[in-house]
Amino acid sequence: MALLDGKKLAQKILKELKKQVSRMKKKPVLAMVLVGDDPASSIYVRRKGFFCAETGIVSKTLKLPADVSEKKLLKVISQLNKDKNISAIMVQLPLPKHINKIKIIEAIDPGKDADCLHPENYGKFAQVDESYSVVAPATPFGIVRLLEEYKIKIEGKHAVVVGRSNIVGKPAAQLLLNRGATVTVCHRHTKNLPAFTRQADILVVAVGKKNLIKAEMVKKGAVVVDVGVNRVGKKIFGDVDFDNVSKKASFITPVPGGVGPTTIATLLWNTVQLARLAKATAKRAKK
Ligand code: GUN
Repeated sequence: MALLDGKKLAQKILKELKKQVSRMKKKPVLAMVLVGDDPASSIYVRRKGFFCAETGIVSKTLKLPADVSEKKLLKVISQLNKDKNISAIMVQLPLPKHINKIKIIEAIDPGKDADCLHPENYGKFAQVDESYSVVAPATPFGIVRLLEEYKIKIEGKHAVVVGRSNIVGKPAAQLLLNRGATVTVCHRHTKNLPAFTRQADILVVAVGKKNLIKAEMVKKGAVVVDVGVNRVGKKIFGDVDFDNVSKKASFITPVPGGVGPTTIATLLWNTVQLARLAKATAKRAKK
């Protein structure tokens, strides 16, 4: 078994971004909108801000109370869309229940959509690939970069994705499909989950249930990517029973230190690409 070291890859991506940013006269600016005081979301936003600073990207965090109205949040996004100094916008999810998440995502200017969640970007990415959408869904793209870093072939493999969220499961399936995998998506209504997971050459698990995937559910030699973040006290566990599954897998991501760091690196990668695109568009408009 070998570890898929997300921390190491993230450092490599961030180093490359730092180089790109150092050549930019106008530094990219990422606006992060944080609604409420969910401790996990606050940690994520702080961590993203920390890596922005490391890379030379300017980050701005806008904190709004948990009871902020949808109208007010839409107004904040509209202002960020209009602000020429802002290169990219990220609204930290999940949002409080009284806010329509889809409405908020659709309000973000696709040219500033750091998460690649806007239907225009997601559609372009699904129809062609991330070169068309400019941005890529952060967690799935980080996963694929991790697989590519370790020279793991995707084309022709059977990839099984467990979880069908808009932020991980669905775009992960799409990305693997774009790269020529045969993809099966499992979710809460799937009957006999082990029958599917046991077929996986590449198994991606993004559910949020500690120890959901046990050794007997994994084929020998499989590549296992664990997206789960389950907090028990101060410790974080994935969705995979790491101690036992790692004995069967050829490659496996640790939690923490796997998919988390590459997600942040991809978000910053998206931010820099959007800033470059805006600059190129402005230059063309001047001519
Ligand atoms: N919540 C958990 N992961 C993410 C992410 O990648 N982007 C956003 N916006 N919210 C998240």
